[in-house]
Amino acid sequence: MTRYAVMGDPIAQSKSPQIHSQFANLTKQNVAYEKLRVEAHEFPARVNAFFNGGGGGLNVTVPHKEDAFALADTASPRAALAKAANTLGMDVAGKLWADNTDGIGLVRDLENNNHCTIKDKNILILGAGGAARGAMAELIHRQPASLTIMNRTTSRAEALRDDFTGEFPIGVRELNQPNTVLFDLVINATSMGLQNQTLELSSELFAAKFTAYDMMYGATDTAFMLWAKSIKADLVLDGLGMLVEQAAESFALWRGVRPHTKDVILKLRNEL
Ligand code: ATR
Repeated sequence: MTRYAVMGDPIAQSKSPQIHSQFANLTKQNVAYEKLRVEAHEFPARVNAFFNGGGGGLNVTVPHKEDAFALADTASPRAALAKAANTLGMDVAGKLWADNTDGIGLVRDLENNNHCTIKDKNILILGAGGAARGAMAELIHRQPASLTIMNRTTSRAEALRDDFTGEFPIGVRELNQPNTVLFDLVINATSMGLQNQTLELSSELFAAKFTAYDMMYGATDTAFMLWAKSIKADLVLDGLGMLVEQAAESFALWRGVRPHTKDVILKLRNEL
């Protein structure tokens, strides 16, 4: 049996062990997956100890994603663009590799699970922290018509935009500043939901039919989802599917087999 784990702090809330044990059953892989509370100062030592002890791979969550990227010997292009990693593994030569599956998780949930295309759409991202950064590269690859960032602190949005200069023209707008086009898709990548808050954006920013996606999720609608429904969004989604899809991508990277996600998402939804 090969050991896997997720490292974070806090970690009690993590659903990754449930998700990966279902993946293991579905794909008949002999793996064990646990959650480990790891404080920032001990992160490098714990990662090394895990792999030296024969561990097969790690997921990494708050607050270690930047440190995971920095610690690795090699990084995928998408992890390098995000400057953060949520997946670590060790190659046959003993080199630690880093990848970031958050963006592809978001895009797969939107496109495959919810039939929401990104190509040619005008997209608004709320937030300019790690969650927004992780999503950018994958959204750009899908060739949206435009990509705009709004953030409480506009200078952070500008810094994020500048990191992607040359990849794609990205707009930055102050909160509620009108845009030249109406948005078809708004993605909440802020951590406001943790405080049960949301940004009250004007309905005039959005197309007649638009989709609202919250990277957060919960047993009931998040504050962002309630806001989106109040201004009559056509489709309102939470981030549970993204959570399962990013896990599936990590699992595929480690095991070379891709689990079906539909039933795993349904089961998790029922258990919320
Ligand atoms: P993460 O890695 O989860 O993205 P982060 O880097 O701390 O975490 O970023 C959190 C994001 O949520 C930021 O965009 C932050 O806005 P600022 O850049 O202005 O700090 C946003 N955010 C968090 N709490 C917020 C609040 N109460 N109101 C508005 N934006 C908030």
